[in-house]
Amino acid sequence: MSPRPRRIGILTGGGDCPGLNAVIRAVAKAAINGGMEVIGIEDGYLGLIQNRLKPLSYLDVSGIINRGGTILGASNKANPAEYAVPTEDGRWVTRDVRDQVIEHCRQAKLDALVVIGGDGTMSGAADLIDRGLNIVGVPKTIDNDLWGTDVTFGHDTAVATAADALDKVHTTASSHHRVMVVELMGRYAGWLALHAGVASGADVILIPEIPFDLKTVAEKCLQRSRGGKGFTIIAVGEGARPAGGEQFVDHVDESSPDPIRLGGVGRFVAEEIKKMTDLEGRAIVLGHIQRGGVPTAHDRVLATQFGYHAFELLRAEKFGQLVVQRNWKIDSVAIKDAAGKIRTVPEDYSVLLAAKAVSTCFGAPNPQPAPVAADHT
Ligand code: F6P
Repeated sequence: MSPRPRRIGILTGGGDCPGLNAVIRAVAKAAINGGMEVIGIEDGYLGLIQNRLKPLSYLDVSGIINRGGTILGASNKANPAEYAVPTEDGRWVTRDVRDQVIEHCRQAKLDALVVIGGDGTMSGAADLIDRGLNIVGVPKTIDNDLWGTDVTFGHDTAVATAADALDKVHTTASSHHRVMVVELMGRYAGWLALHAGVASGADVILIPEIPFDLKTVAEKCLQRSRGGKGFTIIAVGEGARPAGGEQFVDHVDESSPDPIRLGGVGRFVAEEIKKMTDLEGRAIVLGHIQRGGVPTAHDRVLATQFGYHAFELLRAEKFGQLVVQRNWKIDSVAIKDAAGKIRTVPEDYSVLLAAKAVSTCFGAPNPQPAPVAADHT
């Protein structure tokens, strides 16, 4: 790859996420306006491995800012440094196919790549940077767990979807006097469950950062029942776990570089609370609905800013950088610094403190009284 980019490739790695098309549009339009040629790579790194590339015109990326998913397709199973291939006896082994990827980039005369994705995609990018590829990253994930940025696009839309679902279960919860447990995505970080739970006034929010005590949760449900509120809404992140216990694994996907798929904690909580309180409960798993639909206006604006900044980094030949937002400013950090790390909810996060102050239960054993608000005079 030559340093001054004239021809760039774009790919969307990892799971789909609202706002991907808005980033593709922003990068491609800015690049075409800046005199660059743009090549779309299908299905994330898989398209680079299998040499599935196609030119993207201005028209191709027009009218897609509000479309969910990705016009390029995505894959969360193809890190070129550890590409999983099936063996004849049904096992999976990993192969390093980076040479193949580099050859495909050379054949397509790509000077640089824009990779849009989460931590798995950035780890894949770091491995390709080691082989001399010019890469700029854009942070995507509904989980909001990418290290180095205060926010990822897609998170706001997923929070809105999850908050809407939590609002809706209030109807059944209050009519039938039930404990409704809604399991939300987010992997090993609680941003999604926390933000959606706070937005919908959930009574209990369980997140991976605060291992929960079932007795504390049960007591909260009983208190609400005795106090005249005959129902309880519990928002639980899929990575939440009981104090001293393990996270709940739904299945293991051997073909993925990140094989663990979490799931099951919602049902566990509903069943245990029923046993402990005799209150009727139901568990709902919201699942991939959280990744779907039209991106919010906030995500479209953020995605457009991120895409434009990625173009600016390309133009300035600042490769190996991940676009980020820090303290409300768009900036960048080294992809290698962000790769392989995740960002979890800190215990002094202002939203967490606000939720505790309005009596939201986080299921912590022996909960402390809510902190006194800081003096803002
Ligand atoms: O990272 C996004 C995410 O939706 C997580 O919240 C969830 O754990 C995972 O992807 C699900 O992955 P898959 O689409 O492979 O089931």
